[in-house]
Amino acid sequence: MCGIIGYIGTKEASPILLSGLKRMEYRGYDSYGFCFLNDGKASLFKRVGKIDNTEKEFLGKDFVGQIGIGHSRWATTGLVTQENAHPHCDCKKEIFVVHNGIVENYKELKAKLIKEGHIFESETDTEVIAHLIEKYYVNNLEGAVGKALRDIRGTYGLAVISTKDPEKIVAARMSSPLIIGVGVDEFLVASDPSAIITRTRQIINLDDGEIAILKKDGFCILKEEKEAQKNIETIDWDIEQAEKGGYEHFMLKEIMEEPSVIEDAMRGRLLEDEGLVKLGGLESVQDQLRKIDNITLIGCGTAHYAAKIGEYMLEEYANIPTLTDIGSEFRYRKPIVNKSTAAIFVSQSGETADTLAALREMKAKGVLTLGVTNVVGSSQSRETDAGVYTRSGPEIAVASTKAFLGQLTILSLITIYLGRQRDMSIVTGKRIISELMKIPELAREILKQKNEIKKIAEKYKNCRDFWFIGRKYNYPIALEGALKLKEVSYVHAEGLAGGELKHGPLALIDENCPTIAICPTDSVYEKMISNIEEIKARKGKIIAIATVGNEEIEKIADDVIYIPKTLEMLTPILSVIPLHLFAYYFADSLDRDIDKPKNLAKSVTVE
Ligand code: G6P
Repeated sequence: MCGIIGYIGTKEASPILLSGLKRMEYRGYDSYGFCFLNDGKASLFKRVGKIDNTEKEFLGKDFVGQIGIGHSRWATTGLVTQENAHPHCDCKKEIFVVHNGIVENYKELKAKLIKEGHIFESETDTEVIAHLIEKYYVNNLEGAVGKALRDIRGTYGLAVISTKDPEKIVAARMSSPLIIGVGVDEFLVASDPSAIITRTRQIINLDDGEIAILKKDGFCILKEEKEAQKNIETIDWDIEQAEKGGYEHFMLKEIMEEPSVIEDAMRGRLLEDEGLVKLGGLESVQDQLRKIDNITLIGCGTAHYAAKIGEYMLEEYANIPTLTDIGSEFRYRKPIVNKSTAAIFVSQSGETADTLAALREMKAKGVLTLGVTNVVGSSQSRETDAGVYTRSGPEIAVASTKAFLGQLTILSLITIYLGRQRDMSIVTGKRIISELMKIPELAREILKQKNEIKKIAEKYKNCRDFWFIGRKYNYPIALEGALKLKEVSYVHAEGLAGGELKHGPLALIDENCPTIAICPTDSVYEKMISNIEEIKARKGKIIAIATVGNEEIEKIADDVIYIPKTLEMLTPILSVIPLHLFAYYFADSLDRDIDKPKNLAKSVTVE
C-alpha cells in the first residue's frame, strides 16, 4: 500500500530517495515524506499531495545527508494530512520511522504510551512504533526496534533511523514486502523493487520476523537475535515489470493480492471468543444502528454486485429487510425511507458520481448513511455519517478485482456486527468468524490453480458469447464474472440467476455459447444442477465452479474448477477468484489492453 525506501552509503541520499519514491508513483499515494541524518542531526520533510518539482528544496542546504528514509503514503489509519504523513517520530524527535502495514493494537498501545507521558502528533498507527522504540531504547537502535516489535500485533515493513545511533538504518518485516538492495558502497531498503532497481539489481528478500541492520560498510540480518544467512538474488525484470511485482499486468498482480486483501480487511476487527466484530468506524453511530429496521445498499459496477451479496448476508444473518440498488437508478427513484433506514454506500474509490448523488439524496432525507470505501478521505468517506474502510490498497487496473474481495469481507463483518446487535447468537457469530479466518488460506489454494484456469480460458478463446449462472449468494457472482469478462476481453458475456434461464435466455444456448455455472455444494446446489442439465440438453458447454470433493459434477460439466468448502454465506469470496482469473487469461489470450480497457475509466466521476 505505502511505499518505503531507505538509503545509506557514500552519496547524497536525497536525490536517490526522491527518484525511488517517484518510481513507486504508479501505486498511487496521497502524501509523502523524508528524513535525513547528517552529522548526527535529523532533517524532516513532509508534504500532502504528489511529488512535483520540490527537488530543489531537498537538494538545498536543509536536506543533506548520506543516510535517509522516505515514504509515500496511501492513507489507511488517519486522514490525508501533513501530520499523518511519514516519517513519524518519538517525543524527542530522535527516532524516525517509515511503515507499511497495519498495527492492529495501536489504540491500546497508544493509550498506554500516553499514560506513560508520550505525546502524539498524528492519528496514525505508525506513530506508536516510534514511541515504543523510544521507550525501549537502551544501547542501540536494533535492540529497541526488536523489543518494540514484540508489543505490536499486525503487519509491518519498516525502516528506522535515529540521531542516537546515527550510522545505521534498521529495517524489519512482518507480512509486508521488504527488500534490501546491496549496492557498491551503499545499501538500500525498499518495499518495492522498482524503487531501487536503477541503483542495484542485487537484492535480499527479508522474511517475516527478520531485522536488517544496514551500515555504510556492510549489513547484517537478525532472526530471533541470531544472525541469519541469506542469499543475494539478482532481479532480472525491467522497471515496468518491477512495478507490477513481476507480473505482466496489474490486474493479475491485484488478483494475486486477493488473499492478503481479505486478511487486511479483517485485521484487528475480529473478537473470536465473543463472536463479535469491532468496527471502529461505526462506534459513533452504534446506538443508532441498534434502532434501524431496514437497509438500502447502493453501489455501481462491481461495487453494486458486492452490495447485492451484502443484501443476502444481512437478510439471512442479521434479519434486517434489505434492498440493493445501482447508484444511477436510485438517484432518480422515489425512495421510501423512514427514520429507521440505514443506507450503506459501497465504492472502491469513494468518488463515483452516481453513488455520491444517491448518498446526497439519502442525506437530504435524513437517513443514516454509512460507507464501505477503500480510499481514505474520499468524498464518500467524508460525506457519510460513519463507515468502514476496506484497506485493499491502491487498485491500478481499471477493472476492479481485489477491491471487490475487500468489500465482501467488510460486508460480512457488518453482517456479524448488526446481527449480534440483534438475534444472532454467540455461537453463530463465532462460527462465521472462524470460517472467515480460514478464507485467506483457502483463497491462496485457489490461486495455486491459476495455470489450470489459464488452460481452460485458452480452450474457449474462440467463443464470442458466454453465460454466467449462479443462484442465491452466487447470483451476483455470475453478474461479476460476466462483467469482468466483457470489461477486459470485449467479448459478450451475460450473468443471470440460474432460475431465469427458462424465461428466455435458453433460446440462445448452443454448442458455441459456453456457460460458466457457479455451483458450490450449498442450499441451491440441486437447483443449479437442474439448470446445468437444461443447458446440456441444448448442447451447451459447461464450465463448473464446484466444491472440492464433488466428483459427480465431472460427469455433466465439460470443465471443472474446484473451490474449497466454506460457509454458504462466504462462498462468493472464494467463487469469484477463478472468475477473475478466467477473465484475465481469456483477455490475455486475445492480447487485449487488460489494465486499461478501451472506453472505460477507473473512477467514473461524471453522471
Ligand atoms: C468503474 C470501474 C469499475 C467499478 C465502478 C465503481 O466503472 O471501471 O471497476 O466497479 O466504477 O467504482 P467504485 O470506485 O465506486 O467502486
